[in-house]
Amino acid sequence: MRPMPVTGPSIRLQNVSRHYGAVRAVDMVSLDIAAGSLVALVGLSGSGKSTLLKMINRLVEPDSGSIRIGDEPVESLDPHILRRRIGYVFQNIGLFPHMTIARNIAIGLELAGERERQTDRVAELLDLVELPQDIAARMPDQLSGGQQQRVGVARALATRPGLMLMDEPFGALDPVTRDNLTGQYKGLHERLGVTTIIVTHDMAEALYLADRILVMEGGQIKADATPAELLSGDVGAEAEALVAIPRAQAAHLIALGKAR
Ligand SMILES: Nc1ncnc2c1ncn2[C@@H]1O[C@H](COP(=O)(O)OP(=O)(O)OP(=O)(O)O)[C@@H](O)[C@H]1O
Ligand SMILES: [Mg+2]
Repeated sequence: MRPMPVTGPSIRLQNVSRHYGAVRAVDMVSLDIAAGSLVALVGLSGSGKSTLLKMINRLVEPDSGSIRIGDEPVESLDPHILRRRIGYVFQNIGLFPHMTIARNIAIGLELAGERERQTDRVAELLDLVELPQDIAARMPDQLSGGQQQRVGVARALATRPGLMLMDEPFGALDPVTRDNLTGQYKGLHERLGVTTIIVTHDMAEALYLADRILVMEGGQIKADATPAELLSGDVGAEAEALVAIPRAQAAHLIALGKAR
């Protein structure tokens, strides 16, 4: 049985800041994300991407500003309810090493007190992320990196959240596996009707995947554009510097092809 389609919420940040001592990890960010959209957050290491994501599910509290999911300010929501509504894929996968894959996937259901039909739900989720059923009984270290990343996505989807926050979910993979997973997630996002914010280092991935790309630098959003707008240029030096890399790679490949 396929999960019921859900319609993800909109998200609104107003003047949100989080400082660590003198470091402005996130600095007065205001942002509206449309319900059901897929937004990529890109930027150099340390630009504030993870901090921004973690403030949406209250793993980190802002120093100032407000965050709303749909009509509700996040600070008014019980963190348990909030985390059931938000799927979170960790930057470093973060599977529990001493738990089976099945338990790793079901942990959110357990925490939410949904103990019934867990085995069925785990089977359904393994199908959803295209993993074989027989890995349910294995331990995380018996899976490849790509399989572990899929488990991370399955776990985040377990409670049928309307919002997915994904922090470099497909990092550290070979390019082919990465490309497969990216394409597969795009399909899932559309089928489930969720809202997704995905952090990636890979501009080419962001251009392919997202409806909209946010470029962060020094805790601020320096560009906010569709892939087409980014590719046509004129969206600021920070964005242009990031787009220049895949652009140069593509030009190089085309030139190589012509030279043959
Ligand atoms: N718990 C913390 N304590 C102190 N400083 C922190 C903490 N978390 C983040 N920072 C600092 O805030 C800034 C933004 O960090 P953040 O993790 O949000 O960056 P990022 O864009 O996700 O980087 P990366 O691409 O490397 O994951 C960095 O300068 C970081 O050192
Ligand atoms: Mg990060």
